[in-house]
Amino acid sequence: MSSAKLVYEGKEFTLPVMEGTEKERAIDVRKLRAETGLVTYDDGYGNTGSCKSAITFIDGDQGILRYRGYPIEEVAERGRFTEVCYLLIYGRRPTLEELAAWRQKMTMHTLIHEDMKKFYEGYPPNAHPMAIMAAMVASLSSFYPDTDKDLDLNIIRILAKSKTLAAFAYKKSIGQPFVYPRNDMSWPANFLRMMFAVPAEEYEVPKAFEDAMNLLLILHADHEQNCSTSTMRMVGSSEANLYASLSAAICALWGPRHGGANQAVLEMLEELRASGEDYKSFLERVKKGDSKARLMGFGHRIYKNFDPRAKLLKTAADRIFDELGIHDPLLDLAKKLEEVALSDEYFVKRKLYPNVDFYSGIIYRAMGIPTDMFTVMFTLGRIPGWIAHYMEQRNDPDGYRIHRPRQIYTGETQRVFEDWGTKRL
Ligand code: ACO
Repeated sequence: MSSAKLVYEGKEFTLPVMEGTEKERAIDVRKLRAETGLVTYDDGYGNTGSCKSAITFIDGDQGILRYRGYPIEEVAERGRFTEVCYLLIYGRRPTLEELAAWRQKMTMHTLIHEDMKKFYEGYPPNAHPMAIMAAMVASLSSFYPDTDKDLDLNIIRILAKSKTLAAFAYKKSIGQPFVYPRNDMSWPANFLRMMFAVPAEEYEVPKAFEDAMNLLLILHADHEQNCSTSTMRMVGSSEANLYASLSAAICALWGPRHGGANQAVLEMLEELRASGEDYKSFLERVKKGDSKARLMGFGHRIYKNFDPRAKLLKTAADRIFDELGIHDPLLDLAKKLEEVALSDEYFVKRKLYPNVDFYSGIIYRAMGIPTDMFTVMFTLGRIPGWIAHYMEQRNDPDGYRIHRPRQIYTGETQRVFEDWGTKRL
């Protein structure tokens, strides 16, 4: 094992260097504080390995993403979402028999308790569906309080019920009656039917939408230690139950710098089109650091070459639009922005490329999904990833500690809290 040396106040300390299976190296600082009194400072955790994980590998410089060793391009082309859930959570592809049993179980748990329907009644019509999702997922723990006793069953439950919760949130927002799940449909088709069917009318899920939904779910399924996944592990490390931890991860995903970016991209494109501003002048404003103008859907903490998911989605968007004969001026606008940005020095120098959110929103829009549901769509895809990390942490043979970082305190030093005595009103 190699090691790194730290010299501090004339004393030399040896720190072991760990190596992952893809030759990623990290200085192991676990004993640093005990031996030197020092902690590390890493605002935003950009240089911190917070755990060991065997789930997802990303090489951001080369644009590589693999789930359990399988390249994302192959999983996206050949996989089905339910199978990918199994792969991420249990670490291997199921056999065909296991897959059939897994899918069967997942379809048998799609209903939510009828009492939960009452919760939806309390929300105002314009409630953001992410607020509803986070609350509903946390509420599941009140219906299944013994979550820890049978985690495998609760994993099935949340994977099955998440789409029902999401579709009900949408129906609530448009004032339509809930459409109940059907057990003879695939996961994506079942969800789309619950979103778009209305009682007493036939609704057939377009195959192109079912396939697109399958692809989007797979591409969002995991992305190692991002903000929401780290939240999942953080909350899970306190031994909060699965549903509570998932609810926290959903809230973390909501922000526009993370999963909320897909909504922000669409809003940016819509505003730009409505304002009539030329896209080149918009990019100039972005470059000037105008606080209102950031090129949403561009840039990534890890990808500094290209985001392979964005590449797959751009191709998928073209295919879906061709197949359905849709023409969306926002897709044209997105492509123009991308083209100019990719050859502009500002973006090139900072290694800013389209991320997964740049094209996903345009596809959701083509499917008829409203903008404020986009982050919910991301949530549905990411739930298996969050679960995989929660389980990996729980089952770590070395155990796990509660996540509790340190800080560098920069506030006041000790001072007196004066007694105001009778002067206080
Ligand atoms: N538009 C314009 N400039 C940008 C953008 C952008 N989208 N992203 C980064 N930059 C600039 C920054 O201003 C900074 O410039 P400077 O060096 O002159 O100060 C430089 O590029 C580095 O950016 P950071 O913010 O330091 O990068 P960081 O890794 O902290 O942030 C993030 C990554 C949050 C994704 C950022 O690129 C961003 O806000 N992008 C837009 C939001 C978005 O699309 N988020 C989705 C990410 S994917 C996901 O979570 C699913």
